[in-house]
Amino acid sequence: MTGKRFIVTGGAGYIGSHVCVELVKAGCQALVIDNFANSSPKALDRIAEIAGEGVTLLKADLADPADEARIIDAVKAYKPDGAVHLAGLKAVGESVVEPVRYYSVNLPATFTLIRALEAANARLIVFSSSATVYGDLNQSPVDEKGATGATNPYGRTKFFIEEMLNDLARADARWKICNLRYFNPVGAHPSGKIGEDPNGVPNNLFPFIAQVAVGRLPKLKVFGNDYPTRDGTGIRDYIHVVDLAAGHVAALNYLTREEAPGAVVYNLGAGRGISVLEAIAAFKRASNRDIPFEIAPRREGDIAEIYASPDKANRDLGWKATKTLEDMCADHWRWQSGNPNGYRD
Ligand code: UD1
Repeated sequence: MTGKRFIVTGGAGYIGSHVCVELVKAGCQALVIDNFANSSPKALDRIAEIAGEGVTLLKADLADPADEARIIDAVKAYKPDGAVHLAGLKAVGESVVEPVRYYSVNLPATFTLIRALEAANARLIVFSSSATVYGDLNQSPVDEKGATGATNPYGRTKFFIEEMLNDLARADARWKICNLRYFNPVGAHPSGKIGEDPNGVPNNLFPFIAQVAVGRLPKLKVFGNDYPTRDGTGIRDYIHVVDLAAGHVAALNYLTREEAPGAVVYNLGAGRGISVLEAIAAFKRASNRDIPFEIAPRREGDIAEIYASPDKANRDLGWKATKTLEDMCADHWRWQSGNPNGYRD
């Protein structure tokens, strides 16, 4: 991988910043394309502090037609080997209220990236998809043959983009595609310099717990304790964001081989389920803070349990999640306590 160059869309975001660190550590360079809609340019300084130089920035909006020509020119000039595509809107609840905005950002951003890579003769994309593309009918562990059926517009944009990229690879054998279905990314870089910095009140469990632990929010609501699970609360497959980022490098390594197949799909998960109450208890131990919570009604659209079978990625990509729940909590807490307001001063 040494010496390879990749476009990273959304590279200043939570997952993107960790992907950039792993790329630089692997001897690669990255051109981040980001509009900072839900990220901070400070993340790029922090990436350099952690991993050294190797990341450059193009501030541009992939979904804005006014930026398209500039993006295509910059990508051509960069002469990349391919792209990691993470840019997009990602709040489930918001997508239900504003579906058209979700479709009109996530899909066109992908069209622009495809045109830019065509122009640069670099037909390779590792796409940030989600376990949300699995319907709620699968038995866990879910493998890549699991039934699909997203339940909200955000999830459908992920599913449509996967299918579109698959079509692209079917139509033109020069294209190499890897759809990565993430389970629940949590934690932060062990340096405490980069991590998740959600806009407003967090929707997801870990950032919410972390903001309660640091005193920014008073109390967590546990959405339901009457699920058919071991303690009644929802079970998910939390994966450390550094493991997740390493999965992208493994996927790029796989796709850049001479004999790489056209389009592939992999789950990136740890392969075991953790309940909400178990996550709270582990975070409490890691932070040594009280985490007040109350049991609240179920959240609409939630399922009882989902966790991955990561066997296919283990086998083909030689990748495996190695970090424990304790690592996830300790690293998440190091980031949150060192940066109580995220990247804001
Ligand atoms: C959510 C999204 C999913 C997205 C993923 C990104 C929904 C329905 N799904 O998944 O599409 O890809 O985030 O990581 O929003 N919980 C609480 N209290 C809270 C927050 C969460 O009890 O304040 C519980 C939930 O009920 C669930 C678990 O914690 O059992 C995890 O929730 P969350 O972090 O929002 O992730 P998902 O719902 O799995």
